[in-house]
Amino acid sequence: MSEISDHFHSLVPEYVRSLQVYQAGKPIEELTRERGLTKISKLASNENPLGPSPFAIQKMTNALWDVHRYPDMNAYALKSAIAKLYKLKKENIILGNGSEGIMGYIARAFVQPGHEILTSQNTFIGFYIIARSVGAQLKTVPLTSDYRFDVEALAKNITSKTKIIYICNPNNPTGSYITKKEFDYLMDHVPSHVLVIVDEAYFEFAAATENYPNSMDYRYDNVITLRTFSKAYGLSGIRIGYGFGHEDLIGNLTKVKLPFEPGTIAQLGALGALFDKPHLRRTIGNNQRRYQETFDFLAKHDFNPIKSVANFIAFKTGSEEASRYMFDKLLDHGVIIRQLKANEMPEFVRVSLGTKSEMRHYFQAMEEILPEYNKRYGRPKS
Ligand SMILES: Cc1ncc(COP(=O)(O)O)c(C=O)c1O
Repeated sequence: MSEISDHFHSLVPEYVRSLQVYQAGKPIEELTRERGLTKISKLASNENPLGPSPFAIQKMTNALWDVHRYPDMNAYALKSAIAKLYKLKKENIILGNGSEGIMGYIARAFVQPGHEILTSQNTFIGFYIIARSVGAQLKTVPLTSDYRFDVEALAKNITSKTKIIYICNPNNPTGSYITKKEFDYLMDHVPSHVLVIVDEAYFEFAAATENYPNSMDYRYDNVITLRTFSKAYGLSGIRIGYGFGHEDLIGNLTKVKLPFEPGTIAQLGALGALFDKPHLRRTIGNNQRRYQETFDFLAKHDFNPIKSVANFIAFKTGSEEASRYMFDKLLDHGVIIRQLKANEMPEFVRVSLGTKSEMRHYFQAMEEILPEYNKRYGRPKS
């Protein structure tokens, strides 16, 4: 046994051995199993609380009859629909198993051990894991004091070794965004051989914000924009995301991509979701209303929430222990939120915005736990 594992050990590069496995939001079934609860509100993974579009369900159900066939590897129907929507050529579009799937292709195509990737602290952990899994050196700068990507610090830290810059806009887990002016500033400082990944997983929620830069409108040759059907389109469970970029970039990504990702059901589900504009509008409308109520609730309780243009709100508890206490006590009431230790923000928690009734559930649970919580932890000084 030990001989085999010794051999195996030598197969695994140090940068893989030192990785931490991604921690997802706690699944509903797990909480049911652990605590026998029946009423559960999962506010931990920034999913669409209204569920998928009925059009998407219809298309996916019909697609089941064809799953003995391989998927269309060129995804003609879906790429045509995305190209029409954003006035692009199909050659500018790549699809993957979620936008994380496309991050994986980028890592495989463009990154070698030792390459330097520049990004921020306190951003999407999935990206850190993918970058480290191919041996990249991650260089990170802190967020600004109002929890936003710091474009000046990023610009200052670009060196001849920088290969890729990763921007998450809006940022998960803070919900904050860089403005058009800041995006322009950054792009003015990025040499053209450096690839900029702009992760717009929460684009649909932020799009109407006045000075939010839709990176697709700029058409820089060295920018790749990543979006997903997992969030506003409500299809996290089938894994499909898309990217836009210069055809040379997309062409090279296509060479390393597994040919049949995403599968038939995912392609058709995404197509159905894309056509269902009313469902998207209802999703955004629900999010706006829940955002205001939740922000007000947290502010009323002196939590000083971070302003967000996405479908979640983060706020400071003041310590890792206070965050854990809040998380655990909410679980007792059937509410799942997210601790942010993995994002190196252990003194914060994040709550995703659910339906009206899920948020009522959350507010009631908070009202119940707050008297004891306040006695133990009070509020952070700043
Ligand atoms: C900023 C960001 N990017 C990407 C993803 C992954 O999305 P997908 O489901 O498309 O892989 C997430 C998921 O939480 C996210 O928050």
